[in-house]
Amino acid sequence: MLNKMWGFVVLVLFLISGSFCINPNGQKELDKVTKLPGQGFNVNFAHYAGHVTVNEESERALFYWFFEAVDDDPSSKPLLLWLNGGPGCSSIAFGLAEELGPFHIEKDGKTLYWNPYSWNLAVNLLFLDSPVGVGYSYSNTSSDHQNNGDVRTAADSLAFLLKWLEQFPEYKGRDFYISGESYAGHYVPQLSQAIVRYNHGLTKPAINLKGFMVGNALTDNYHDHLGLFQFVWSVGMISDQTYKLANALCDYESFSKPSEQCNKILDQGKEEIGNIDIYSIFTPACTDKFSILNQLLGKHNRVGYLRRSYDPCTKQHSEIYFNLPEVQEALHVHKRNSSFKWVTCSEEVSNGWKDSPKTVLDVYHELIESGLRIWVFSGDTDSVIPVTSTRYSIDALKLPTIAPWRAWYDDGQVGGWTQEYKGLTFVTVRGAGHEVALHRPKQALTLVKSFLAGTSMPSLEQISDS
Ligand SMILES: *[C@@H]1O[C@H](CO)[C@@H](O)[C@H](O)[C@H]1NC(C)=O
Ligand SMILES: *[C@@H]1O[C@H](CO)[C@@H](O)[C@H](O)[C@H]1NC(C)=O
Repeated sequence: MLNKMWGFVVLVLFLISGSFCINPNGQKELDKVTKLPGQGFNVNFAHYAGHVTVNEESERALFYWFFEAVDDDPSSKPLLLWLNGGPGCSSIAFGLAEELGPFHIEKDGKTLYWNPYSWNLAVNLLFLDSPVGVGYSYSNTSSDHQNNGDVRTAADSLAFLLKWLEQFPEYKGRDFYISGESYAGHYVPQLSQAIVRYNHGLTKPAINLKGFMVGNALTDNYHDHLGLFQFVWSVGMISDQTYKLANALCDYESFSKPSEQCNKILDQGKEEIGNIDIYSIFTPACTDKFSILNQLLGKHNRVGYLRRSYDPCTKQHSEIYFNLPEVQEALHVHKRNSSFKWVTCSEEVSNGWKDSPKTVLDVYHELIESGLRIWVFSGDTDSVIPVTSTRYSIDALKLPTIAPWRAWYDDGQVGGWTQEYKGLTFVTVRGAGHEVALHRPKQALTLVKSFLAGTSMPSLEQISDS
């Protein structure tokens, strides 16, 4: 009897201590997303969303959404972090909901559909809204939102990764990659540099960074501008006169504060360009007409039955969806004061941006030296950070060529062109705009698979052999 009692006491103690101590995955389980509004289909992967506090003092918390790889065994696949740019734009709004994430949003702003080219077919996929003030990421020190910059963004993102890995310990030491586009041309190399430096001297680093890949990436102000004006002139968007004046009067080094003279030329250029989607020059822009048409379609049609054509207004759908209280609840978004409104890109963040170096080419030199796998891609119909800009920036690195310029193939068609340098692989995606995976989802999946495998882009022979 006594023994039995004693056994019972021990058992109770064990259960109590068990629930308090041996559960490092507690927060992970709490962050599991179980019921997502508007998801009328099943998925064969788990996903998690929530906040991670990156600074206790200022109470800064970054929001993530993580998708396990579609696989019998996600533990066999690496981990990839995706970042969008701006600065101030949400990786959930763009990367996830428009480009390479599994869930995209219908025209009604309420219903989700499955993206058959989601990158979590190839990798465990982590989206992060960074820095604070972007998407659902926030600081309780609200002045933080107007005082972001490159340096703190990298430091907070590093703090995020270290804490996130405590929550998801099975990814400690896992092969890890970072990818992103646009202004993330700063974030991605800068965070990679912060990780490489943090890992220095560690034998088994938790963040096992293997490489990074950026697309239509802001890299070097001078070369980005040089290529920009050349591109918009050569595709016939601006006049000869404007092109000549811009070359003569604009200081290509300074990005955010052009001179008065240059500003005039830029205004003239804008006027000449007209109402075009500068992020994708050959597709329709989101005009009022499109927007109204979408609202009608969203209201009156069972969306699933419509053939899905290119929709230039996807941003508007996410601004409905991610403001729904039931969606925020399902994603474990911290309750904020009632004036909070989720936006795709925060002007408060971009307008208050504090530090942004003129170039990150020095970071490339350091990271190439460190042996990371570095890929740079470019959708060749973007006029914001066009393919010409990226080529000038890469050229400025003065890397020896390993494999010369050639076409790469996807299903027997030219998917774009590629050149391999010592320490860097360059890939263009033909017909894609600034958001490559939005315009060319299938080719983008081929791209990330090649990147992760560390192989060259497919050639024509490879395709016909298989
Ligand atoms: C911010 O403040 C709210 C309200 O006091 C609190 O619930 C929340 O945990 C704080 N956030 C952080 C990151 O500390
Ligand atoms: C809500 O947040 C806004 C912007 O940060 C602030 O101006 C306002 O005072 C806050 N309102 C409440 C009720 O806390």
